[in-house]
Amino acid sequence: MFATVALLAIMCLTITTHADHHQPCHTHNMTGLMSVMTLKGEMKAVGSFTYDSVGRKLRFQSNESQPSNTSLGLDLLMFFEEGIFYEIDSKNQSCEKKKLQMSLHPFDIPDDAKFDSTMTTGCSCIEAEGLKVNIWTGSLTHIKGFYSMSVTMGCLPVSTFYFTDTTSFLFRNMDVELEIKDPDLLVVPSLCHGKPLEDTPEGTVHSFLHEFM
Ligand SMILES: *[C@@H]1O[C@H](CO)[C@@H](O)[C@H](O)[C@H]1NC(C)=O
Ligand SMILES: *[C@@H]1O[C@H](CO)[C@@H](O)[C@H](O)[C@H]1NC(C)=O
Ligand SMILES: *[C@@H]1O[C@H](CO)[C@@H](O)[C@H](O)[C@H]1NC(C)=O
Ligand SMILES: *[C@@H]1O[C@H](CO)[C@@H](O)[C@H](O)[C@H]1NC(C)=O
Repeated sequence: MFATVALLAIMCLTITTHADHHQPCHTHNMTGLMSVMTLKGEMKAVGSFTYDSVGRKLRFQSNESQPSNTSLGLDLLMFFEEGIFYEIDSKNQSCEKKKLQMSLHPFDIPDDAKFDSTMTTGCSCIEAEGLKVNIWTGSLTHIKGFYSMSVTMGCLPVSTFYFTDTTSFLFRNMDVELEIKDPDLLVVPSLCHGKPLEDTPEGTVHSFLHEFM
């Protein structure tokens, strides 16, 4: 009896300690490249991003067909804290201001993410031949689905899978540098000044992920 209680107590302690070790960390300021691919193999977008981890601001700019054969040319400026974003089209000089319904994005671990596991890809036996990551998972809000995010020990998100009923995506971050190289990219361009907040049509969900659907 005592042994069982003691064992249970130890197990609880172990689990608690285990959980304490895995609080979602928050990422750094970053500049880099991001690619988005559907799990059917279609390359949706490749572009550059700038992320301010303090102000929770993101700029993502992609380019149709450059450098890969991609289908989406996007220019997005997202303010996750405020829950709004701008869709910018410098070609036709238009800018739309919209409300974000879902604040998930592949540059930081959501606060309510659940720790899944630690994994090393490649070989941890030789330096620089293996990459150790923590996997975090959680469900999507507003649509049925879930995500699985791989984050380095230093809290840099490497890749994120989004699974929904209809499609699945793989987002990958590459050539990341731990600084904001061009702070102007996170400033609302004059093109967008004074734009009214557009109504979200019934049944529409706006999020970073939805821009690629
Ligand atoms: C991240 O960028 C923001 C905005 O430029 C800046 O205020 C903040 O100090 C930066 N944080 C770090 C850790 O460099
Ligand atoms: C598209 O990509 C090419 C090559 O990387 C670059 O030279 C060009 O400026 C980009 N265009 C836009 C609109 O970003
Ligand atoms: C580019 O993608 C389109 C649509 O996915 C496809 O029809 C076309 O053949 C591709 N072009 C090249 C050069 O791969
Ligand atoms: C600008 O172009 C986009 C797509 O290329 C289109 O959705 C939008 O309505 C256009 N805006 C204006 C003001 O023409």
